[in-house]
Amino acid sequence: MSYNQPPFIPDTAPFSDEQRAYLNGLLAGLFSSAPTSALAANPPSSLKIAVLYASQSGTAETLARKLTKELKARGHVASLTSLEGYTPATLAEERHAILIASTYGEGDPPDAVQPFFQQLCLEHFPRYRDLSFAVLALGDSSYEHFCKFGIDLDSKLAALGATRICDRVDCDVDLDDTFANWKSSLIERLDATTAALPARTSPSTSIAAPVAKPASLYTRENPFHAPLIERRALTCDVSSKLTMHVAFSIADSKLEYEAGDACGVVPQNDHRLVSEIIDTLKFSADVPVQLPKAGATKLWDALTTHLQITRLTRKTIQAYATIGQCQKLFDLLIPEQQSHLDKYTYDRGLIDLLHDYPGVLHDPADLVAMLPSLAPRLYSISSSPKAHSGEVHTTIAVVRYRSHNRDRGGVASTMLAERIAVGDSQPVYIQPNKRFRVPPDSTAPIIMIGPGTGIAPFRAFLYERRAVAATGKNWLFFGERSAATDFLYRDELETMRDDGHLTRLDLAFSRDQERKIYVQDRMLEQGAEFYRWLQDGASVYVCGDASRMAKDVDATLHTIVEQQSDLSKEAASEYVQQLKDENRYHRDVY
Ligand SMILES: Cc1cc2nc3c(=O)[nH]c(=O)nc-3n(C[C@H](O)[C@H](O)[C@H](O)COP(=O)(O)OP(=O)(O)OC[C@H]3O[C@@H](n4cnc5c(N)ncnc54)[C@H](O)[C@@H]3O)c2cc1C
Ligand SMILES: NC(=O)c1ccc[n+]([C@@H]2O[C@H](COP(=O)([O-])OP(=O)(O)OC[C@H]3O[C@@H](n4cnc5c(N)ncnc54)[C@H](OP(=O)(O)O)[C@@H]3O)[C@@H](O)[C@H]2O)c1
Ligand SMILES: Cc1cc2nc3c(=O)[nH]c(=O)nc-3n(C[C@H](O)[C@H](O)[C@H](O)COP(=O)(O)O)c2cc1C
Repeated sequence: MSYNQPPFIPDTAPFSDEQRAYLNGLLAGLFSSAPTSALAANPPSSLKIAVLYASQSGTAETLARKLTKELKARGHVASLTSLEGYTPATLAEERHAILIASTYGEGDPPDAVQPFFQQLCLEHFPRYRDLSFAVLALGDSSYEHFCKFGIDLDSKLAALGATRICDRVDCDVDLDDTFANWKSSLIERLDATTAALPARTSPSTSIAAPVAKPASLYTRENPFHAPLIERRALTCDVSSKLTMHVAFSIADSKLEYEAGDACGVVPQNDHRLVSEIIDTLKFSADVPVQLPKAGATKLWDALTTHLQITRLTRKTIQAYATIGQCQKLFDLLIPEQQSHLDKYTYDRGLIDLLHDYPGVLHDPADLVAMLPSLAPRLYSISSSPKAHSGEVHTTIAVVRYRSHNRDRGGVASTMLAERIAVGDSQPVYIQPNKRFRVPPDSTAPIIMIGPGTGIAPFRAFLYERRAVAATGKNWLFFGERSAATDFLYRDELETMRDDGHLTRLDLAFSRDQERKIYVQDRMLEQGAEFYRWLQDGASVYVCGDASRMAKDVDATLHTIVEQQSDLSKEAASEYVQQLKDENRYHRDVY
């Protein structure tokens, strides 16, 4: 076969008609679109593959990096690119694209990827006829719009004429096995494509992967056991909430982080609740069980360390209903009853299901099979490695509430608050957040908006900027319920304000007067000055509650620009978009 004729799959090759048609289409597209010189330089037994990711907290990026490395090791010319700043036109130049995409908000793309997807949605012409693609969607099935962005991306690309290399796969939080299976089947498909191509004429060493910096030894799967070195309440005893400063030592770990990163905490369930569940079911804590990932263990360990028992998912209810043939639960599971299902699962856990529908489970294996994995929790790091060497600080709002005659607590936050002692070791890892960094120019001004635990990364930023003697101005908007009881890190912030490091500190204590006052009210009051800072090149950072605060603050930013600049609403939107494009508007919201 010469390079000047399109390669094809012979009829004798061991493929079904459908596979052969797919592969021939793929080869024709590949051949017709690649200039001969490019084929000569990159003989077609290696494919040029764009690995693209849409990530907010780094998971999709990490998986994309792993995949790229493996594709390179297999001789392909693989490139790794974020969809942030990427355009549909650049995608049209690719022949093979693998997309790994997480979902946020109401089933939206990660913040930074919204412009790409908005542009893609405007496309109608089937411009991707020459593109073969595969999508791995990342999500969390406890959200209503599970993996929605990956799903939308997959169908939009197909609608624009692109051909699937393999079907989309949706990953839940416990994604290792799903990722591994998807990766093998993807590679199998790609190998089938390359096997049909002429042998490579140049040695594969010419496209070997560059030597990568060794990744941290400690990961979500292999966390570091960090001693808890300090824990103190940041709110007063009489406050309506409890927020704590919790610090770990990483002195002996070689763990590295930067201000803006998050700390992953691998939690354990409350032993009292685990005992109650085992007693209710009349099981033995020592009975052996098999877990898909952890393998053989005892029921006690499975329920304490590996499985989510405090929240109910549709899948759990479905499995329970099937085992017990519970008609009432089946009724709740029909799509029209979604709002009733949501109401039932909103403030109940496994223990409620066992009491409300008793006598269903007789085999511990059924119990462990129906529960999702217990996922690590992330906490924005509130220390700077330059100021707090060998330590990681976190700022934890302790989740407690009462429902259906039971006091309940968030798994990780209550564990950090009361179930581990100073001196105990806690499994942690670093979750990099590369898009949430102090500006590289240390003279640039920054505006930080962080009510509640949103203060965490900004405490880190302030210490970081002080440690490197950054001369840029610092403005912080902080808000909480009441000044007397909830002014987190009050002494530190007031000291930094008094000595001039914190140029401005604007406070919004929502419950200290009849009318609620929030950080965005303070932003509006200072609109003229806020806009002056923006015009002087300030970067804006927002951290904290995603459900309401971040949206309201975003709307207020638009309003300030519109009011202070005399721009139209549309032009003000473009101004804010420009801030994003210039990496001057960053959000770390949850
Ligand atoms: C990038 C990132 C950074 C974060 N940074 C921080 C941080 O700096 N500080 C911080 O405190 N948190 C932070 N979080 C949130 C944190 O990861 C956890 O989600 C939080 O601590 C709750 O975890 P938990 O295990 O204690 O509670 P969970 O066991 O996860 O329980 C929380 C769940 O309980 C339910 N619930 C809570 N209150 C009620 C109620 N009143 N009625 C009914 N149901 C209720 C809700 O379903 C809620 O989702 C961050 C999250 C992300 C993604
Ligand atoms: N259920 C729980 O017990 C619990 C406990 C801790 C944290 N959380 C969740 O964890 C996240 C972070 O909590 P947190 O402790 O950091 O504080 P938070 O709940 O975000 O509250 C911090 C401050 O923000 C105010 N606020 C409320 N709505 C706002 C809005 N739309 N715009 C601006 N400010 C607003 C709050 O005022 P008001 O509260 O007076 O309205 C409070 O003064 C939130 O998602 C929160 O829902 C839940
Ligand atoms: C604030 C927040 C909102 C989320 N919203 C959704 C959602 O609507 N649907 C979903 O399937 N997953 C949702 N997730 C889960 C993430 O998509 C999932 O954890 C993913 O693995 C994160 O990938 P990333 O680290 O690459 O951003 C959400 C996670 C967070 C922290």
